[in-house]
Amino acid sequence: MPQTLLDAPVQTNGFRDSAFAKNKILPVHRWVPWIAGFSAQFVDDCISAYLQPNKKDTAWILDPFAGVGTTLVESYIHGINVVGFEINPYAALAARTKLEAVNVEPGTLQAQIAGFQRFMKTRCASANGKPRSTPPAGFSGRTQLFSPAVERKILFALDFINSIPISAVRDIFRVAFGSVMVNVSNYSYEPSLTRRLAVDKDEIGDAPVDEVVASKLMLMLEDVRWLQTQVPKLGHKPTAKVYDDSFFVAPNKLKRQSFIDLLVTSPPYLNNYHYPRNTRPQLHWLGFASGPGYGGARESESFGKFWQTVRDLDPIKLNFVLPALAEAVEDVRSRNAEKSAYGGPGWANYVASYFNDAYRFCKIVADFLKPGKGVAVIVLGNSIIQGVEIKTDYFFGKIAELCGLKFEETLLLREKRTGTSIIQSSVRVDRATKKTVLYESAIVLRK
Ligand SMILES: C[S@@+](CC[C@H](N)C(=O)[O-])C[C@H]1O[C@@H](n2cnc3c(N)ncnc32)[C@H](O)[C@@H]1O
Repeated sequence: MPQTLLDAPVQTNGFRDSAFAKNKILPVHRWVPWIAGFSAQFVDDCISAYLQPNKKDTAWILDPFAGVGTTLVESYIHGINVVGFEINPYAALAARTKLEAVNVEPGTLQAQIAGFQRFMKTRCASANGKPRSTPPAGFSGRTQLFSPAVERKILFALDFINSIPISAVRDIFRVAFGSVMVNVSNYSYEPSLTRRLAVDKDEIGDAPVDEVVASKLMLMLEDVRWLQTQVPKLGHKPTAKVYDDSFFVAPNKLKRQSFIDLLVTSPPYLNNYHYPRNTRPQLHWLGFASGPGYGGARESESFGKFWQTVRDLDPIKLNFVLPALAEAVEDVRSRNAEKSAYGGPGWANYVASYFNDAYRFCKIVADFLKPGKGVAVIVLGNSIIQGVEIKTDYFFGKIAELCGLKFEETLLLREKRTGTSIIQSSVRVDRATKKTVLYESAIVLRK
């Protein structure tokens, strides 16, 4: 049986570690790993701290950057109504599928898994059979994603998955497939998607695709059963909705205002981690994207933009007045100016775009939180850009105040966070500032 929530050590401020790693052993949360996802325990702690226990069945929790659904799933398990937005279609699929799992008939899922195993055994055993599915046209890389033997099996797996008649069951298969496909490919997460050869790992000539997918599915089946023992204990069925869309369109999608009791989220960090690029295999092989570029993952609507898309633009200024931040942006702009787009000028555009989006975000949040009671907990990490430390939590708090929210406190969650490599590979760090500690914190805002 999967373990239920662990009693991980509580930090002195009462909030447990926000790192996603803990989710790997928790039912449902363990379905899909997600970079910079955070822990279910952290969500639990937010619920205990900011929601009245007797109001859970009428309360609403929002996650504007839902990722693979940690906030939404954990809140749902507590009996709370949830709504989320996620721009990456693969992550949105994972979040939605987890929440829909409560309606999936375990016997039907089990029968489909058995059917999948039989289908794969027969098809892969015959050397002559040809899969009906074809590789997606738009996926290209310096190395073939799959070796020919693996690709043939992958295509058979897709033949079966696409023929599953019940959409909620098909989605469980699609999530299972997406979560393991890179493990049998010639790429790996380091944590960015990287060719195996580039990190001295052997390419994968062949792999038991059926076993890898089926064992993921068996684990998911176990969790579906577990979830279905939990929800009846609540005495009511919470409402859950995930929008495969940018949070910036929330005002058009959510017809109500001022109804959110608690928001728990983590926007993309100021580290230029490119979610669309890193989920290219899933986006293409699950049919969310076609052709080159990242249109399928709505790259241009991503929170904070990506350095690649703003570096060559004219100098981008802040759309609001915050002198200390404007100074930091200009400090970045002045560094390595001779490298233009690749030096301070390009990176200053990235920083300014990030905080302009933070401003747009806080304005929308202010409209959705319940006056007097609504709380927003936003997990952030500081960054070092061109040698300048940017305290994202501090500036975010100040921006929230400009948007009519009350900054309450900052909770230090982790004094040292992993992922430094992401920053250091994409941002040249001054030798002098190498010592700056990267931390993770949550700011608490009230309406
Ligand atoms: C740090 S992750 C959140 C992870 C989440 N807390 C979890 O545990 O799975 C940030 C997420 O924001 C999403 N995102 C980026 N821009 C967005 C936007 N404009 N609207 C909604 N989601 C967005 C990214 O695709 C990414 O999944």
